[in-house]
Amino acid sequence: MAKKRVAVLISGRGSNMAALIEAAKAPDYPAEIVLVVSNRPQAPGLSRARDADIATAVVDHTLFGENRETFERALDAVLATYRIELVCLAGFMRRLSPWLVGRWRGRMLNIHPSLLPQFKGLDTHRRALEAGVKEHGATVHLVVPELDSGPIIAQERVPVLAGDTEQTLAARVLETEHRIYPRALRALAEGRVRLESSDQQDMQRL
Ligand code: GRF
Repeated sequence: MAKKRVAVLISGRGSNMAALIEAAKAPDYPAEIVLVVSNRPQAPGLSRARDADIATAVVDHTLFGENRETFERALDAVLATYRIELVCLAGFMRRLSPWLVGRWRGRMLNIHPSLLPQFKGLDTHRRALEAGVKEHGATVHLVVPELDSGPIIAQERVPVLAGDTEQTLAARVLETEHRIYPRALRALAEGRVRLESSDQQDMQRL
């Protein structure tokens, strides 16, 4: 079967992007990373992608002012140019409108540094430490209009250790992110995960 054509959307350092690029090098991997798109021209992940010989594009949201719709149409047009079939959000720090999410319904993944549904939104490690949880982790989910919601495709736990700081906890979680994102993309690309209705019970765990 032909490999699925994937774009990774980033805003920053791109370590999850790099993990996906690395995983996709395996001959039996069902997806190829053909494009990396950033909304920030200075995102360090862009040069990492270029070093890996992956095409890059910048759709700078600041050039579109407050107009989210024209920004998203420009982004969507770039994805169309590269005949993208699946999209992975990897530290992409823009909220997407229901229009764009709808266009990519069932074909767009996001990674979030918490055990969803706990700690949606930002500063997950600080909030986990403040809450005193014993376990924390990372989640890959299909994107739906509601932020950090959507059916969970992969999730992995890490312990919260005595003396952990935001940094040590983030580093432990990041290791799991790099394991579960390639696994989740594989499942989606192989058709082992499908969004069948808007009902969030349609969930399949790896
Ligand atoms: C990761 O922690 C990811 O879960 C979150 O943003 C961070 C991106 O890191 N959504 P990187 O750019 O992949 O290194």
